[in-house]
Amino acid sequence: MSVLPWHLLPDNSSVDDEGRLSIAGCDLIELAGEFGTPLFVYDEDHVRARCREAVAAFPDGVAYATKAFLCKAMARLAYEEGMDLDVATGGELHVALAAGVPAESLVFHGNNKSLRELTAAVDVGVGVIVIDSIVEIDKLRTILEGRENMVRVMIRLNPGVEAHTHDFLQTGATDSKFGIGVEDGTARRAVDLIRAFPQLDLVGVHAHVGSQVFDVSSFAKAVEVIAGFVDEIEVPALSVGGGLGVPYVEGEWAPTIPEWGITIREEIEATGLDVDVHAEPGRAIVARSAVTLYTAGTIKEIPGVRTYVSVDGGMSDNPRPVLYGSGYEVFLVRSTTTDRDREIRLVGKHCESGDVIVWEGRVPSYLELGDILATPVTGAYGHTMGSNYNMVLRPPVVFAKDGDARLVVRRETYDDLLARDLV
Ligand code: LLP
Repeated sequence: MSVLPWHLLPDNSSVDDEGRLSIAGCDLIELAGEFGTPLFVYDEDHVRARCREAVAAFPDGVAYATKAFLCKAMARLAYEEGMDLDVATGGELHVALAAGVPAESLVFHGNNKSLRELTAAVDVGVGVIVIDSIVEIDKLRTILEGRENMVRVMIRLNPGVEAHTHDFLQTGATDSKFGIGVEDGTARRAVDLIRAFPQLDLVGVHAHVGSQVFDVSSFAKAVEVIAGFVDEIEVPALSVGGGLGVPYVEGEWAPTIPEWGITIREEIEATGLDVDVHAEPGRAIVARSAVTLYTAGTIKEIPGVRTYVSVDGGMSDNPRPVLYGSGYEVFLVRSTTTDRDREIRLVGKHCESGDVIVWEGRVPSYLELGDILATPVTGAYGHTMGSNYNMVLRPPVVFAKDGDARLVVRRETYDDLLARDLV
């Protein structure tokens, strides 16, 4: 017996007597008919609920990490729910501003911000720039010369902590491109340089240890390691970044946002530091809020080997299985409550054998061509990391709420594919 684990679905999921799934009152098969597949369907109230949890867990300030999923509707939603927004490139900055989010609610990240990006951030007056290297301080001095702007900055520390996650998702270990080392004295030098420059206001330090972290002790360890330094330099705020993991497949478990908040705040209190505590969750806000719908187009049974089910998307809408070997579940949308008794490998339509969406999937044996399949927990780092490899069109995004489905990002068109092609 292997029915779909319910805790992987968006909050407002429901099924009819046959087990056919709706999200926020919207029937998924109808949505697939109306908008086509592949299609990202977000449960808007699920996202709002996670934002509210984050604001309650980190009352001193919490930013939504837009790299997890960004479009204007998402930026506006997070802002409406009281979150600031973490943007890590000029592009994310542009979209957040286009959504109408005030610049002072933006936290600007990046390990290699260009002069152009930093100038844009200073021009619009972003709330905080998180300085990631000594050279960035020089860039800011150049930009601020002859101006009167005051710029609020944090410095991103490298705590030298190895978080329990995939190697690619670790960002706080000593051997990392991110952050300024504390141990080797660089962070102290950065603080002195910033404080020697009257237009930079050092409002805090930042330490992000990695992403998809289940074990909150990794965060606690980072806090412990940098506590002495934070105390020494006397800054008003400490941001622990993002990184809280989410379950993707049956049997996985992660702390909730409130649990994460409590642990972090207790840990910081235990160090005796008197600082505001900030955080920047991305995945934990949006991952479980969405499912991706696909249409089954080819079923290839190789006797004694396996069954491949090919769908109309793939690594272009979810590159995580290829990049990190990430696991996902798959289910038949018309029949979510019956036994998934047939083992399959769910693959995309790209010209690569590695184009796998679900390595070890299970569906009911009566799966047919043309059936709508869904993969849950695709709300984070799917749409934003998508591509149009093989000139496959990027899927649209729908926000479902109270029985209404709102198209917030349309499907890419063949003309879009030629929009930048000049000769
Ligand atoms: N803050 C900073 C400075 C970050 O670098 C990140 C993620 C976050 C916040 C948000 O982390 P989250 O809460 O979403 O874990 N593409 C990878 C994830 C890369 C995350 C990079 N930084 C994936 O698909 O798993």
